Amino acid sequence: MADVFEKCDEFWARMEKIAGEMMVPLRNTFFRRFPIVNCTPTYIRDGKEFLQVSTNDYLGLAVHPEVVEAGFRIAEQYGVGTPLGARPLTGNTDLHLALEADLAKYRLTESSLVFNLGLSAMSGTIACVVGRKERIFVDAYAHSCVHDGARLCKGEASWFAHNDMTDLEEQLKACPDDVPKMIAVDGVYGMSGDLAPLDKLVELKKKYNARLFVDDAHGTGVLGENGRGTCELFGVEHEVDLHGGTFAKSFGTFGGYICGPEHVLRFVRHVSPGFMLTKALPAAIVAATIKSLELMQKLPERRIKLWENINALRDNLRAAGFNIGNPEGAVTSIFTRGVTALHAVKMLEEEHQIIVNPVMYPAVPYGTSIVRMTPSALHSTDQMQQVVDALVQVAKKIPLLEGNHAAAHRAVGQTADASSAHSTT
Ligand SMILES: Cc1ncc(COP(=O)(O)O)c(C=O)c1O
Repeated sequence: MADVFEKCDEFWARMEKIAGEMMVPLRNTFFRRFPIVNCTPTYIRDGKEFLQVSTNDYLGLAVHPEVVEAGFRIAEQYGVGTPLGARPLTGNTDLHLALEADLAKYRLTESSLVFNLGLSAMSGTIACVVGRKERIFVDAYAHSCVHDGARLCKGEASWFAHNDMTDLEEQLKACPDDVPKMIAVDGVYGMSGDLAPLDKLVELKKKYNARLFVDDAHGTGVLGENGRGTCELFGVEHEVDLHGGTFAKSFGTFGGYICGPEHVLRFVRHVSPGFMLTKALPAAIVAATIKSLELMQKLPERRIKLWENINALRDNLRAAGFNIGNPEGAVTSIFTRGVTALHAVKMLEEEHQIIVNPVMYPAVPYGTSIVRMTPSALHSTDQMQQVVDALVQVAKKIPLLEGNHAAAHRAVGQTADASSAHSTT
């Protein structure tokens, strides 16, 4: 008799097919244990100094004394998780409203909503905004939470090949004029580091009378003249209908948000379970985020330093012969076949005391894996060179220079996210 639990073992059997006998040792590379001094560029473990280029704390704000103090003050005064209620109950504090006002001002939108996760912000908003007999078109590389929103919505969802405007236009053209439409993309793609062509997406959205949703989790604080992200970089902030993001990257805190027109967000506020049927973000985190949003705007030198580090890392990787594709956000990835990236990450940690992230299926296509690096403003350019020197040593032992970027892109249609989002709900 078939059992719903069977797939749990089948998953590991599929993984063993690509990892072979290394599966068990490599499995432990995922979900490694880290000390909780997690956002500093270096830390001491067992008497050894480790360098980490993996925290997502792009601007170093997670450990900024003013951010820490802002959160600490509220936690000490009111409790760690306070408020414990959902937003429509006891969870709606002045701090939550102040952060929403600050975010709307920063994003140049009418309104904003703060969620307790970036994941719920994207999935919860898309799921309720795209209704019955409506249609959403999602980039195949978009973050899983955008795909989740498309799967959960009452409308019809389809995906288009990553950044392929011809594919998107064909789908838009084939969709009847009277069907309300939304296009959903990431500003910066979190695995490959490339950008959505927002200028072209705006043209298409206008031509086919669609709405445009941009999840700019990775672009915010990093791109654009004032650090407002990918939409600022492309000069399309006013053309994008809904801006989503997370606080768990450049802000250095926790939670997520959506910015957009007040009448739309008033609707989301009242109907999205991801907003209203879940505990509010702790006020201590909200207070810390208010401070980090202020600092993000007051300290442009952090963004300048971040880019100095990103450029040093990329120039040195390319000079050493690594295939890193054409990333334009802060994420820098080396694409590999099989589970080579997991081997590399394990060797970097054990032999060079360097921490970077491995990414494997189902976050990337089956049969590929990624060594993913995210520099921060707190790193030095010498530390970027240190990472590249170590990678060069690792590449002498395993086939890390044998770039697999094209294969990773070709396989995009086979990702778990993409294929399952291609469903009518
Ligand atoms: C593009 C993108 N969107 C959404 C999220 C989810 O944000 P959170 O971690 O706040 O749930 C992430 C997090 O990794 C992300 O990279």
